[in-house]
Amino acid sequence: MAPVQTTNKTSIIKITDLDFFYGDTQALFKINLTIAKNRITSFIGPSGCGKSTLLRCMNRMYDVIRNTKASGSILFDNNNILQTSTDVTGLRRRIGMVFQKSNPFAKTIYENVVYGLRIAGENKKSVLDQAVEESLKGTSLFDEVKDRLNESALGLSGGQMQRLCIARAIAIKPDVILMDEPCSALDPKSTAKVEELMLNLKKDYSIVIVTHNMQQSSRISEYTAFFLEGRLMEKDTTQKIFTNPSKKETEDYITGKFG
Ligand SMILES: Nc1ncnc2c1ncn2[C@@H]1O[C@H](COP(=O)(O)OP(=O)(O)OP(=O)(O)O)[C@@H](O)[C@H]1O
Ligand SMILES: [Mg+2]
Repeated sequence: MAPVQTTNKTSIIKITDLDFFYGDTQALFKINLTIAKNRITSFIGPSGCGKSTLLRCMNRMYDVIRNTKASGSILFDNNNILQTSTDVTGLRRRIGMVFQKSNPFAKTIYENVVYGLRIAGENKKSVLDQAVEESLKGTSLFDEVKDRLNESALGLSGGQMQRLCIARAIAIKPDVILMDEPCSALDPKSTAKVEELMLNLKKDYSIVIVTHNMQQSSRISEYTAFFLEGRLMEKDTTQKIFTNPSKKETEDYITGKFG
Protein backbone atom coordinates (compact mmCIF):
# COMPACT_ATOMS: atom_id res chain seq x y z
CA MET A 1 0.00 0.00 0.00
CA ALA A 2 1.21 3.52 -0.78
CA PRO A 3 2.82 5.45 2.06
CA VAL A 4 0.44 7.69 3.93
CA GLN A 5 0.39 11.36 3.10
CA THR A 6 -0.79 13.04 6.22
CA THR A 7 -2.10 16.49 6.85
CA ASN A 8 1.30 17.12 8.40
CA LYS A 9 3.95 15.11 10.20
CA THR A 10 2.20 14.79 13.51
CA SER A 11 -1.49 14.61 12.74
CA ILE A 12 -3.31 12.06 10.62
CA ILE A 13 -6.87 13.40 10.68
CA LYS A 14 -8.04 16.98 10.91
CA ILE A 15 -11.68 17.66 11.73
CA THR A 16 -12.99 21.17 11.09
CA ASP A 17 -16.39 22.61 12.00
CA LEU A 18 -18.10 19.23 11.87
CA ASP A 19 -21.86 19.26 12.38
CA PHE A 20 -23.81 16.01 12.29
CA PHE A 21 -27.53 15.30 12.17
CA TYR A 22 -29.74 12.25 12.62
CA GLY A 23 -32.81 13.45 10.73
CA ASP A 24 -33.59 16.86 12.24
CA THR A 25 -31.72 16.16 15.44
CA GLN A 26 -28.25 17.60 15.66
CA ALA A 27 -25.85 15.23 17.44
CA LEU A 28 -22.51 17.00 16.88
CA PHE A 29 -21.88 20.74 16.99
CA LYS A 30 -18.89 22.43 15.33
CA ILE A 31 -16.29 19.85 16.26
CA ASN A 32 -12.68 20.95 15.70
CA LEU A 33 -10.12 18.31 16.49
CA THR A 34 -6.92 16.79 15.15
CA ILE A 35 -5.95 13.17 15.66
CA ALA A 36 -2.25 12.59 16.29
CA LYS A 37 -0.28 10.15 14.22
CA ASN A 38 1.07 7.01 15.92
CA ARG A 39 -0.53 8.00 19.18
CA ILE A 40 -3.58 6.89 21.12
CA THR A 41 -6.34 9.44 21.52
CA SER A 42 -9.23 8.65 23.82
CA PHE A 43 -12.74 10.05 23.64
CA ILE A 44 -14.52 10.36 26.96
CA GLY A 45 -17.82 11.83 28.09
CA PRO A 46 -21.24 10.83 29.38
CA SER A 47 -23.56 8.50 27.52
CA GLY A 48 -25.18 10.15 24.52
CA CYS A 49 -22.59 12.95 24.14
CA GLY A 50 -21.70 11.86 20.61
CA LYS A 51 -18.52 9.79 20.95
CA SER A 52 -19.69 6.91 18.75
CA THR A 53 -21.25 9.33 16.30
CA LEU A 54 -17.93 11.11 15.85
CA LEU A 55 -16.14 7.79 15.42
CA ARG A 56 -18.68 6.82 12.76
CA CYS A 57 -18.05 10.10 10.95
CA MET A 58 -14.36 9.31 10.72
CA ASN A 59 -14.86 6.34 8.39
CA ARG A 60 -18.26 7.26 7.00
CA MET A 61 -19.99 4.43 8.84
CA TYR A 62 -22.98 6.73 9.24
CA ASP A 63 -23.67 6.17 5.54
CA VAL A 64 -25.45 2.98 6.54
CA ILE A 65 -27.87 4.91 8.78
CA ARG A 66 -30.75 6.50 6.89
CA ASN A 67 -31.37 10.22 6.89
CA THR A 68 -28.04 11.35 8.33
CA LYS A 69 -26.11 14.45 7.32
CA ALA A 70 -22.60 15.69 8.05
CA SER A 71 -21.11 19.07 7.19
CA GLY A 72 -17.76 20.68 7.75
CA SER A 73 -14.67 18.73 6.86
CA ILE A 74 -12.66 15.71 7.93
CA LEU A 75 -9.31 15.85 6.25
CA PHE A 76 -7.51 12.55 5.78
CA ASP A 77 -4.70 12.17 3.32
CA ASN A 78 -5.47 15.67 2.04
CA ASN A 79 -9.04 14.78 1.08
CA ASN A 80 -12.24 15.78 2.76
CA ILE A 81 -13.73 12.34 3.36
CA LEU A 82 -17.22 13.82 3.80
CA GLN A 83 -17.36 14.54 0.07
CA THR A 84 -19.83 12.34 -1.77
CA SER A 85 -17.07 11.37 -4.21
CA THR A 86 -15.13 9.54 -1.45
CA ASP A 87 -14.51 5.87 -2.13
CA VAL A 88 -15.89 4.66 1.21
CA THR A 89 -14.75 1.07 0.79
CA GLY A 90 -11.22 2.29 0.24
CA LEU A 91 -11.57 4.71 3.14
CA ARG A 92 -12.68 1.97 5.53
CA ARG A 93 -9.71 -0.09 4.45
CA ARG A 94 -7.47 2.70 5.69
CA ILE A 95 -9.54 3.71 8.70
CA GLY A 96 -10.64 0.46 10.32
CA MET A 97 -13.03 -0.07 13.19
CA VAL A 98 -13.35 -2.36 16.19
CA PHE A 99 -16.66 -2.46 18.01
CA GLN A 100 -17.75 -2.74 21.62
CA LYS A 101 -19.25 -6.14 21.18
CA SER A 102 -16.75 -8.30 19.38
CA ASN A 103 -18.34 -9.37 16.13
CA PRO A 104 -16.47 -12.33 14.69
CA PHE A 105 -18.16 -13.83 11.65
CA ALA A 106 -19.49 -17.38 11.77
CA LYS A 107 -16.44 -18.54 9.88
CA THR A 108 -13.13 -20.08 10.79
CA ILE A 109 -10.50 -18.13 12.69
CA TYR A 110 -8.44 -18.03 9.51
CA GLU A 111 -11.26 -16.69 7.36
CA ASN A 112 -12.09 -14.03 9.94
CA VAL A 113 -8.57 -12.64 9.76
CA VAL A 114 -8.36 -12.64 5.96
CA TYR A 115 -11.90 -11.35 5.41
CA GLY A 116 -10.88 -7.81 4.44
CA LEU A 117 -8.09 -9.05 2.22
CA ARG A 118 -10.45 -11.33 0.32
CA ILE A 119 -12.88 -8.45 -0.16
CA ALA A 120 -9.98 -6.46 -1.57
CA GLY A 121 -9.50 -9.30 -4.07
CA GLU A 122 -6.51 -10.98 -2.48
CA ASN A 123 -6.78 -14.77 -2.70
CA LYS A 124 -3.19 -15.92 -2.93
CA LYS A 125 -2.67 -18.53 -0.24
CA SER A 126 0.89 -17.51 0.62
CA VAL A 127 -0.17 -13.87 1.10
CA LEU A 128 -3.18 -14.83 3.20
CA ASP A 129 -1.18 -17.30 5.30
CA GLN A 130 1.38 -14.65 6.04
CA ALA A 131 -1.27 -12.07 6.95
CA VAL A 132 -2.91 -14.53 9.34
CA GLU A 133 0.36 -15.29 11.08
CA GLU A 134 1.42 -11.64 11.29
CA SER A 135 -1.93 -10.31 12.47
CA LEU A 136 -2.42 -13.05 15.04
CA LYS A 137 1.12 -12.54 16.32
CA GLY A 138 0.46 -8.81 16.41
CA THR A 139 -2.50 -9.42 18.70
CA SER A 140 -0.66 -12.06 20.78
CA LEU A 141 -3.22 -14.60 19.71
CA PHE A 142 -1.10 -16.78 17.48
CA ASP A 143 0.15 -19.23 20.09
CA GLU A 144 -3.32 -19.59 21.55
CA VAL A 145 -5.04 -20.45 18.27
CA LYS A 146 -2.41 -21.68 15.81
CA ASP A 147 -3.59 -25.28 16.05
CA ARG A 148 -7.21 -24.44 15.36
CA LEU A 149 -7.13 -21.87 12.60
CA ASN A 150 -9.71 -23.86 10.68
CA GLU A 151 -12.14 -24.09 13.56
CA SER A 152 -14.99 -21.66 14.08
CA ALA A 153 -14.12 -18.29 15.61
CA LEU A 154 -17.30 -18.57 17.65
CA GLY A 155 -15.57 -21.13 19.87
CA LEU A 156 -13.13 -18.55 21.23
CA SER A 157 -13.44 -16.81 24.60
CA GLY A 158 -14.79 -13.24 24.68
CA GLY A 159 -11.33 -11.75 25.14
CA GLN A 160 -9.90 -13.90 22.36
CA MET A 161 -12.77 -12.91 20.04
CA GLN A 162 -12.08 -9.24 20.65
CA ARG A 163 -8.39 -9.75 19.90
CA LEU A 164 -9.41 -11.66 16.77
CA CYS A 165 -11.51 -8.69 15.67
CA ILE A 166 -8.49 -6.46 16.20
CA ALA A 167 -6.39 -8.94 14.18
CA ARG A 168 -9.02 -8.74 11.43
CA ALA A 169 -8.79 -4.95 11.54
CA ILE A 170 -4.99 -4.87 11.30
CA ALA A 171 -4.72 -7.61 8.63
CA ILE A 172 -5.52 -5.03 5.96
CA LYS A 173 -2.90 -2.67 7.42
CA PRO A 174 -5.04 0.40 7.93
CA ASP A 175 -3.53 3.74 8.95
CA VAL A 176 -6.05 4.43 11.68
CA ILE A 177 -7.95 2.09 13.99
CA LEU A 178 -11.14 3.36 15.62
CA MET A 179 -12.20 1.42 18.69
CA ASP A 180 -15.59 1.92 20.29
CA GLU A 181 -15.40 0.71 23.89
CA PRO A 182 -13.40 -2.37 22.88
CA CYS A 183 -12.94 -3.60 26.46
CA SER A 184 -16.32 -2.93 27.99
CA ALA A 185 -17.38 -6.57 27.72
CA LEU A 186 -14.04 -7.97 28.88
CA ASP A 187 -12.73 -9.05 32.26
CA PRO A 188 -9.70 -7.24 33.75
CA LYS A 189 -7.23 -9.81 32.46
CA SER A 190 -8.48 -9.66 28.87
CA THR A 191 -8.70 -5.88 29.16
CA ALA A 192 -5.04 -5.75 30.20
CA LYS A 193 -4.14 -7.83 27.15
CA VAL A 194 -6.05 -5.58 24.78
CA GLU A 195 -4.45 -2.49 26.37
CA GLU A 196 -0.99 -3.99 26.01
CA LEU A 197 -1.84 -4.75 22.42
CA MET A 198 -2.88 -1.17 21.74
CA LEU A 199 0.37 0.14 23.18
CA ASN A 200 2.24 -2.14 20.76
CA LEU A 201 0.04 -1.21 17.82
CA LYS A 202 0.62 2.51 18.04
CA LYS A 203 4.09 2.03 16.56
CA ASP A 204 2.36 1.35 13.27
CA TYR A 205 -1.10 2.82 13.67
CA SER A 206 -2.93 5.86 14.91
CA ILE A 207 -5.60 4.79 17.36
CA VAL A 208 -8.78 6.43 18.62
CA ILE A 209 -10.54 4.71 21.48
CA VAL A 210 -13.87 5.51 23.08
CA THR A 211 -13.91 4.52 26.70
CA HIS A 212 -16.00 4.99 29.81
CA ASN A 213 -13.08 3.84 31.88
CA MET A 214 -11.04 6.82 33.08
CA GLN A 215 -8.21 4.61 34.30
CA GLN A 216 -8.01 3.07 30.88
CA SER A 217 -7.87 6.45 29.23
CA SER A 218 -5.08 7.61 31.54
CA ARG A 219 -3.16 4.31 31.24
CA ILE A 220 -2.98 4.10 27.49
CA SER A 221 -3.68 7.39 25.71
CA GLU A 222 -1.42 10.36 25.06
CA TYR A 223 -4.37 12.63 24.26
CA THR A 224 -7.87 12.79 25.66
CA ALA A 225 -10.90 14.58 24.25
CA PHE A 226 -13.87 15.25 26.52
CA PHE A 227 -17.31 15.63 24.95
CA LEU A 228 -20.54 16.91 26.40
CA GLU A 229 -23.92 17.12 24.67
CA GLY A 230 -22.49 16.90 21.17
CA ARG A 231 -19.72 19.42 21.78
CA LEU A 232 -16.00 18.98 22.22
CA MET A 233 -15.40 20.62 25.59
CA GLU A 234 -11.69 20.12 25.85
CA LYS A 235 -8.87 18.19 24.22
CA ASP A 236 -5.39 18.07 25.59
CA THR A 237 -2.66 15.74 26.71
CA THR A 238 -4.14 13.03 28.87
CA GLN A 239 -1.92 14.17 31.70
CA LYS A 240 -3.36 17.70 31.58
CA ILE A 241 -6.96 16.53 31.26
CA PHE A 242 -6.65 14.31 34.31
CA THR A 243 -4.56 16.58 36.52
CA ASN A 244 -5.41 20.12 35.56
CA PRO A 245 -8.30 20.42 33.09
CA SER A 246 -9.15 23.89 31.81
CA LYS A 247 -12.92 23.52 32.03
CA LYS A 248 -15.03 22.97 35.09
CA GLU A 249 -17.25 20.48 33.24
CA THR A 250 -14.21 18.32 32.47
CA GLU A 251 -13.14 18.38 36.08
CA ASP A 252 -16.64 17.51 37.26
CA TYR A 253 -16.79 14.59 34.85
CA ILE A 254 -13.38 13.10 35.61
CA THR A 255 -13.95 13.43 39.33
CA GLY A 256 -17.22 11.56 38.97
CA LYS A 257 -19.64 14.39 39.77
CA PHE A 258 -21.78 13.35 36.81
CA GLY A 259 -21.85 10.96 33.89
N1 LIG B 1 -28.99 5.71 14.77
C1 LIG B 1 -29.36 6.80 15.44
N2 LIG B 1 -30.52 7.45 15.11
C2 LIG B 1 -30.91 8.56 15.78
N3 LIG B 1 -30.23 9.12 16.80
C3 LIG B 1 -29.09 8.51 17.17
C4 LIG B 1 -28.59 7.32 16.53
N4 LIG B 1 -27.44 6.96 17.13
C5 LIG B 1 -27.23 7.87 18.10
N5 LIG B 1 -28.20 8.80 18.14
C6 LIG B 1 -28.29 9.95 19.06
O1 LIG B 1 -27.14 10.77 18.91
C7 LIG B 1 -26.67 11.22 20.17
C8 LIG B 1 -25.22 10.76 20.35
O2 LIG B 1 -25.21 9.34 20.45
P1 LIG B 1 -23.88 8.48 20.47
O3 LIG B 1 -24.26 7.08 20.30
O4 LIG B 1 -22.91 9.06 19.52
O5 LIG B 1 -23.38 8.77 21.97
P2 LIG B 1 -22.18 8.10 22.80
O6 LIG B 1 -21.40 9.23 23.37
O7 LIG B 1 -21.46 7.12 21.95
O8 LIG B 1 -22.96 7.37 23.99
P3 LIG B 1 -22.61 6.00 24.77
O9 LIG B 1 -21.52 6.35 25.73
O10 LIG B 1 -23.88 5.66 25.46
O11 LIG B 1 -22.21 4.96 23.75
C9 LIG B 1 -27.62 10.66 21.21
O12 LIG B 1 -28.55 11.63 21.52
C10 LIG B 1 -28.28 9.50 20.50
O13 LIG B 1 -29.56 9.26 20.99
MG1 LIG C 1 -21.22 5.03 22.06
